[in-house]
Amino acid sequence: MRSVVKGSGFVVGEHLVPNARFEKIMDTSDQWIRERSGIEQRYFVADGTSTSDLGARASKIAMEQAGVGPQDIDYVVFATMTPDHYFPGCGSIMQSKLGLRNIPALDIRQQCTGFVYALQVSDALLKSKVAKTLLLVGAETHSPFMPFSDWPTILGLADNEPTPEQRALHTSVRDRAVLFGDAGGAIVLQREDDETERGLIDFELHADGTGYNKLYVPSGMAHRPYVSPEIINRLDHVPHMDGKFVFRMAVTKMPEVVRSLLARHNLTIDQIDHFIFHQANLRINEAVQVSLGIKPERIYNNIQKYGNTTAATIPIAYDECRRSGRIKRGDLLCFVGLGAGFHWVAALLRD
Ligand code: UT7
Repeated sequence: MRSVVKGSGFVVGEHLVPNARFEKIMDTSDQWIRERSGIEQRYFVADGTSTSDLGARASKIAMEQAGVGPQDIDYVVFATMTPDHYFPGCGSIMQSKLGLRNIPALDIRQQCTGFVYALQVSDALLKSKVAKTLLLVGAETHSPFMPFSDWPTILGLADNEPTPEQRALHTSVRDRAVLFGDAGGAIVLQREDDETERGLIDFELHADGTGYNKLYVPSGMAHRPYVSPEIINRLDHVPHMDGKFVFRMAVTKMPEVVRSLLARHNLTIDQIDHFIFHQANLRINEAVQVSLGIKPERIYNNIQKYGNTTAATIPIAYDECRRSGRIKRGDLLCFVGLGAGFHWVAALLRD
């Protein structure tokens, strides 16, 4: 019995935002962003588009490829760190947008590793026969986190000069502002009772909360009230990040978890046809690739086009590789990621 991917799809925010757009509103440069992160552009949503909208759009594409309709889906698992609302989660909102039956809809809150955590949960739901055909989504709208004063200019719809105060505010969040993008990815997973080769094979997931405040949003229910003018003035509603700490953790933990998962299956690096890493920083992925000795043609990066879309990065890269024919039926894949929490993960599957 195996959980097999029957369809995949992704969408991005409506507005393409090249690096140069940030030069307009803060002290940064296209060169700095490319050199430090590999990112060339990202997409931000239009006003009114939410995470559940991106999830629903990506799901429709995945469902069409899988050849399944709204009546066929019997479980939704939605991974996001940027839900439409504080509550409820995106799962039920998307369930109604897609016109699915009143099936269970679960939200997963594991940030950059959300998709792989969601894969493990989905695999367990399918193998325990709770579900037969499951919709798994990873989607994010990061741009609303940013305290920009002039969205039309950043979206390319206007060309205004910021005041010196606005420029200083934007520059204070520049290390995070340039990294993230808005997008959604989805897959349809189905239990195949007579399948032994294709599908999800195994996972290795880890968590360590000791450094949680190296990448987090300080505001929340740890404070009464959870939102106040002081919180907003301190920018505690914006993610705080110790970039160097996250970088070091990623280049240490990602190789570690891959080695451990492959060792359990007596597999060598060269036996994996494709590695799909979470897309947080091209420099992180290059360092991990060198550390593991992965051949360049066996790894796929697309952060240049989309930035870091958190729970959406892996399903987007996976869908691009499937559609372009880079991944062929029967290929052995390894998904790998690290993110806030902290969590670090790897998954093995045969496409
Ligand atoms: O999925 C997990 C999400 N997060 C991550 O994966 C983040 C991982 N970390 C990183 O990607 C990198 O640490 C960053 C890209 C965030 C930063 O790169 P870095 O090479 O670690 O730079 P840094 O933080 O050491 O900063 C170097 C300089 C600083 O200026 P000073 O103090 O040397 O004058 C920063 O203020 O670069 C400055 N800086 C910028 N300059 C221009 C930071 N952000 C920017 C920017 N444009 N956007």
